[in-house]
Amino acid sequence: MGALPLTWTSPEDARRLIAEVRALTDRPVQANFVLAFEPQSLVTALESGVRVITFSWGLPANEVPLLKSFGARFGVQATTAEGARRALDLGADFLICQGTEAGGHVQATRSLDDTLPCIIEAAQGTPVIAAGGVGDGKTIARVLALGASGAMLGTRFVATQESLAHEIYKRRLVEARAQDTALTVCFNGGWPQAAHRVLRNSTLEAWEAAGCPPSGRRPGEGDCLTSEPGRREFLRYDDTPPRATMQGNPEAMCLYAGTSCESISDIPSVSELMQRLVLDCEAAR
Ligand SMILES: Cc1cc2nc3c(=O)[nH]c(=O)nc-3n(C[C@H](O)[C@H](O)[C@H](O)COP(=O)(O)O)c2cc1C
Repeated sequence: MGALPLTWTSPEDARRLIAEVRALTDRPVQANFVLAFEPQSLVTALESGVRVITFSWGLPANEVPLLKSFGARFGVQATTAEGARRALDLGADFLICQGTEAGGHVQATRSLDDTLPCIIEAAQGTPVIAAGGVGDGKTIARVLALGASGAMLGTRFVATQESLAHEIYKRRLVEARAQDTALTVCFNGGWPQAAHRVLRNSTLEAWEAAGCPPSGRRPGEGDCLTSEPGRREFLRYDDTPPRATMQGNPEAMCLYAGTSCESISDIPSVSELMQRLVLDCEAAR
């Protein structure tokens, strides 16, 4: 199932994006909301027919009546047994267990191997999806063997032909090994103090070399790194990763990546990648 991250998307843009997806497929699609922010487009997603919603970084206590009124199913990202129990008490249809190997913002504080068994136990039969560091079919087979009902892959899909990521970002993902990623709070513009895993790059190296100073005292702070024609400029330490439409210095922006970049060696189409994931997973089971 494809996922539309709609946390930072206006209702108007969300409606347009969902219509674009609907024109391409009638397969189910999920909308995701990071609950550290107001889920401004949740109503729009539901009105537009999305019936699977996932939440991370919080519990959707206020949103459950709305979800129920649309007959939607929902999943909650859980990184502790207590978090899993609270999500189940709210009626979560499935849980997403994230480990610290994950790319992007990392809610987890422990590795997937450490966390998955305890979330599966707490779930008591409710499906658990494993996320973080899963980038190929063999690793999907491994998390299924550990008791997960599925896997969620983020970084692997950034390096696909259809991805809107900048070519330089995609190429760095192909070249990178797991040890080229770092869990940091460096790129905090837009979401302060939330840990994230990124590829090591010039901005991160310079900030670490300066002793990881706080906002206001960081090297190159306020530099405009890229801009998009007709839209805003993107500054060093912003939390937006580089898109194909940005011009400037994308290498220095935040390049979200999980340790799963280890298994990325090409930039296939999504369809080619999906077939490969299924075949390799089946072969490894
Ligand atoms: C570029 C990128 C953007 C992401 N955006 C979101 C998001 O908006 N909401 C969310 O819950 N997780 C987000 N994640 C985290 C993923 O849901 C997932 O936990 C992670 O990608 C799994 O690890 P992997 O990248 O090694 O596959 C993002 C990850 C990446 C790489």
